Amino acid sequence: MAPLAHQPIGVFDSGVGGLTVLHELLVSLPAEDYLYLGDTARFPYGDRTQDELRAYSIEISEHLLAAGAKLLVIACNSASAAAVDAVERHLAATARDVDVIGVLRPAAQVAVVASHTGRIGLLATPATVGSGAYELAVASLDRHVHLESVACPDLAPIIQGGFPFDETVIETVRAYCVPLREAQVDTVILGSTHYPLCAPILQRMLGRGVTLVSAGTGVTRTVERALASRGLLNPSAGEGSYRFMCTADVESFRALGTRFLQMPLGEIAHVELSARAAA
Ligand code: DGL
Repeated sequence: MAPLAHQPIGVFDSGVGGLTVLHELLVSLPAEDYLYLGDTARFPYGDRTQDELRAYSIEISEHLLAAGAKLLVIACNSASAAAVDAVERHLAATARDVDVIGVLRPAAQVAVVASHTGRIGLLATPATVGSGAYELAVASLDRHVHLESVACPDLAPIIQGGFPFDETVIETVRAYCVPLREAQVDTVILGSTHYPLCAPILQRMLGRGVTLVSAGTGVTRTVERALASRGLLNPSAGEGSYRFMCTADVESFRALGTRFLQMPLGEIAHVELSARAAA
């Protein structure tokens, strides 16, 4: 059955980081209802294999569709890099006509437009950098752009555990910025959902002249266009609702999630997920 305009938008991530993307959606598309699933039990996704990320993303997509989602946003960069095509193929094979929107392409688009010098930096997890998906996305938009990619294995976990930020966060960020400064990039993609939280630190280390691009803004435009093209924008006036699910401890999700969303979370349901990558 085709989805209907009053159904919620499904958003998922490895944990609380995708709340930075949800935050942008809530601001830009306030009339929509949202259903967010944070796979906290399997965090971090940044160390997972591409096969694992595909298996998890298909399982979570099924869960969100069963809960009534009309469109899926893969708010996690690592999962987007590995799994947008796989989820789309899975849905097509099972005759479900639902848009699947990842964060990579919208972020690459914003960065390519923002860069004057054609030298763009990427900070992302090992899974995202290893996939080469940002290189492909940037090259498909402009093959003359140079992308300087830096894998940041420690950054998402220490941001997650590092409130208030301490010297470890500062020194870790500083080390990851060195190759970007050397490459003289004028634009940097914050290629993980966690990194917008240390945007002020990054801006100070990279310099005011460097444009920081996070996925949120580009994604909201893509979501809006996808919904509009199918007549699926929620016609209600006023603010829609948002609901949460997570796969590990609910109270830890609430405590951390409130900081990432900068709004109260309300009801959070615990869900069990168990997909494994095919051997
Ligand atoms: N959400 C992940 C991403 O954007 C970052 C954290 C993780 O490694 O799970 O890649």
